[in-house]
Amino acid sequence: MQWKSLLASVLVAPLAHALIRFPCSQLVTERSDPLVTPGIVSPHLHQVVGGNAFNFTMDPSNLDPAKAATCTTCRFAEDKSNYWTAVMYFKHPNGTYHRVRQMPNHNTGPGLQAGGMTVYYFQPRAPTKNLNIKAFAPGFRMIVGHPYRRADDIPTTSPEYRSTSYRCFDESDPGNNGVPGFAGDSFGLPKKMCPEGIRSNIYFPQCWDGINLDSEDHASHVAHPAGPASDGLQIFGTDCPDTHPVRLPLLFMEIIWDTRPFNDKSLWPTDGTQPFVFSMGDPTGFGQHADYLFGWEGDSLQRAMEVCTGGDGIPWNCPVLTTQDMDTMNSCRQANKIDEIVENQYIDRLPGCNPLQDGPTSATAIENCDAASTWTAAPTPTAAPALVTPPWPVCWDGPGPAPNGLAPLCDSKPTKANSGPLVTPPPARR
Ligand SMILES: *[C@@H]1O[C@H](CO)[C@@H](O)[C@H](O)[C@H]1NC(C)=O
Ligand SMILES: *[C@@H]1O[C@H](CO)[C@@H](O)[C@H](O)[C@H]1NC(C)=O
Repeated sequence: MQWKSLLASVLVAPLAHALIRFPCSQLVTERSDPLVTPGIVSPHLHQVVGGNAFNFTMDPSNLDPAKAATCTTCRFAEDKSNYWTAVMYFKHPNGTYHRVRQMPNHNTGPGLQAGGMTVYYFQPRAPTKNLNIKAFAPGFRMIVGHPYRRADDIPTTSPEYRSTSYRCFDESDPGNNGVPGFAGDSFGLPKKMCPEGIRSNIYFPQCWDGINLDSEDHASHVAHPAGPASDGLQIFGTDCPDTHPVRLPLLFMEIIWDTRPFNDKSLWPTDGTQPFVFSMGDPTGFGQHADYLFGWEGDSLQRAMEVCTGGDGIPWNCPVLTTQDMDTMNSCRQANKIDEIVENQYIDRLPGCNPLQDGPTSATAIENCDAASTWTAAPTPTAAPALVTPPWPVCWDGPGPAPNGLAPLCDSKPTKANSGPLVTPPPARR
């Protein structure tokens, strides 16, 4: 089922309210999840971005990532938070799996990030009565989505339905400095080929009970706004419910899966299904989920939400935060500490050997055959990470000013030289 996203317009015209938008490259891809399965190997694979204090156990009583991390993969040096999601794989007709790489989002330059995602924090605007937001407190964490969901059986107007979706990028999309992709997002993975890739759109709840930094299910201490949904960012509702009266910044992430190498009809299933699956054994996409573990330094996020109201989301234009150059963020990395191959080649089973469960009943936890259940001390990788060049520009290379206010100039580089490859806009698109 598809729903027309009113969010297509979110970044088409600058908004007169606070917004920060920034790339975070990949820190590590491994079977760890300090929120859901602390201290043990996770049943499925996650890709993690953010501060390098990330670990199998992250107990807020003795670990403050803002202080413990020595680097972050996010463009803003103050953001030592961690963000993680499932990993997408292509299932080959011979039954083996290949990781689908991620590519940079449009206008996230001046250089290319290595994998990862784009992170946004939005401040609400009228008509909500909760205009004053409170940034997350140290120790705060939350989850959105359900890894075991396999059915499209919830109301299309429910916040849950709208909190995780996909956009199929077509060749005829606007491109250039327009936002790629037409609004026509789906709750499940697109059933057709997407010539320029697939984007995951993930919105976290924006209302907090004001007391609990976490909860048993990592979700019930937060809620989506209630009341009538309107347009743009208020698709979830307008005001926070009485049970969760504190308005948080709206945390939103986009992940762009480079499915282009797999758009070969002879490699697609002949029964009309599509070949992409998530690492928890989900061929439907309904199980898309994401985890957040707050780790901004001091009051930096609160200050950014109060000051960076230009609405263009260009990191360089948020002067209260420190932009680091893209080489620095790309080189903040951790090794996969589980002794298993997860990417760069065809693998016989999904990591953790999760079988595909296509629903519509909820998936169940399946005993992990002989998958590794311990980790080792692996050295931090030093080789340069792979960069994927997307089919759209990441910055505006002139001449003259950018045709819209949302494109960072390719020369708006931080003071430290950025040696990452610059991508110039293609001369003309179809
Ligand atoms: C992760 O935790 C282990 C065990 O407490 C510790 O030895 C290691 O240094 C931690 N890694 C990071 C990156 O903090
Ligand atoms: C499956 O196909 C891939 C891509 O051609 C190939 O690399 C791999 O070896 C094949 N595996 C098996 C088990 O046939």
